[in-house]
Amino acid sequence: MWSFQSSDLLGPGDARGVTQRLEQFVDDLLGSSFGHGVRHAGFDVILQQYAIHLLQRTLYSRDLFHHVGAVALFLDPADDCIEVAASRLQPIQRGPLVFRFHAVSIAHPTRGGVGPRPFLRERVTLRPMDIHEDIVAAIGNTPLVRLGRIHPSGNLVAKLEYLNPGGSTKDRIALGMIERAERNGWLQPGGTIIEPTSGNTGVGLAMVAALRGYKLVAVMADKQSEEKRALLRAYGAEVVVCPTDVEPEDPRSYYSVADRLTRETPGAYRPDQYSNPANPEAHYRQTGPELWEQTEGELDVVVIGLGTGGSVSGIGRYLKERKPGVWIVGVDPQGSIYTAETEDDVTTYLTEGVGEDFWPETYDIDVVDQFEMVTDAEAFATTRRLSEVEGIFAGGSGGMAVAGALRVANERPDDLVVVVLPDSGRNYVSKIFNDDWMRDNGFL
Ligand SMILES: Cc1ncc(COP(=O)(O)O)c(C=O)c1O
Repeated sequence: MWSFQSSDLLGPGDARGVTQRLEQFVDDLLGSSFGHGVRHAGFDVILQQYAIHLLQRTLYSRDLFHHVGAVALFLDPADDCIEVAASRLQPIQRGPLVFRFHAVSIAHPTRGGVGPRPFLRERVTLRPMDIHEDIVAAIGNTPLVRLGRIHPSGNLVAKLEYLNPGGSTKDRIALGMIERAERNGWLQPGGTIIEPTSGNTGVGLAMVAALRGYKLVAVMADKQSEEKRALLRAYGAEVVVCPTDVEPEDPRSYYSVADRLTRETPGAYRPDQYSNPANPEAHYRQTGPELWEQTEGELDVVVIGLGTGGSVSGIGRYLKERKPGVWIVGVDPQGSIYTAETEDDVTTYLTEGVGEDFWPETYDIDVVDQFEMVTDAEAFATTRRLSEVEGIFAGGSGGMAVAGALRVANERPDDLVVVVLPDSGRNYVSKIFNDDWMRDNGFL
């Protein structure tokens, strides 16, 4: 479901401003070649034309227009809303989609003919029929859930990114990066995508690649769980495993191997989530606005684990534009570069998907107001508590983020704190949720 504020759809201003714009629109319409028919068709048709115009403008401003083709409108006065049938032209020609368009709730003119009077509603929703055209259309709009048991004072809520169809928040950037490459001609039909990935980005890429007919080669460090590798293979990807304990510049590192394979493979495209602007952009365009809508702009603090920095940079930038006082907390595993005070503090750690040993271009450090460092032990204990107490089966980076978020939520009891849970515990059944592994690593 796409959700819009009334001001997105109708433009800023009160109901009077909207009425004036409608009158201007009607004048323009009547002056056009269309005008004659419209005049005779009467109020409903004018209103329909106006609603179509608003809908197109709104979809266009959100870059959704290319997904939606012709629109037709049906007035439903009884329900006080308008139904819009919109045929979907691209990327797949199937349709129609039906939107319930509460944009212009209509007060019918007194039948004597005072003229149309649209009025503003607090919230505007475009609700497509509940069928996704394909799996990538199911990416996003993940739920927010209050962590009321682990944090009874109630000001901590979690965004369950693991409920994305590929199982993590990385679905969003995978789609964004592939679509950017398609737009720029960097990826041709049947082409090969090569990416060094800790797994989740690989799954997102594999899912989109399977759907769109690309081949995926995922290059992974050997510290990643076997489940993650098997999962990638299940989508038809090829997995190349590299040693973890080597410098990024070492020819054996997974970064170097991915570079080499990209050079050697004809027609290969390397999205590079560490430098691709489509990574933070996906969160700027989707995750940030979702958080804003879901909390009705009432959120005060957002707590996010730092990996490529795409999530924190995109979400943080969007929310600060909407509300400059929003406080962004970046959570980092102990041993990672972001919170290390000296080079000696940069060490290996076991929390997967977060922390780095270099500074990625996708990470905009200015967005982060506060850092929290969390040990593997605290991250994993919190990950287990989440499933045992809240029934939320998240991965270790989610547990790490919640450990940081609990500190912040306790420090700021009057603030609404949102924490992002990037992936699912299913990736770590043989590790964090396995007592032997936990004991062997000194966590139990
Ligand atoms: C499990 C997991 N958690 C968190 C992150 C961090 O997100 P980001 O790369 O947007 O900083 C990633 C991605 O690297 C991840 O795979």
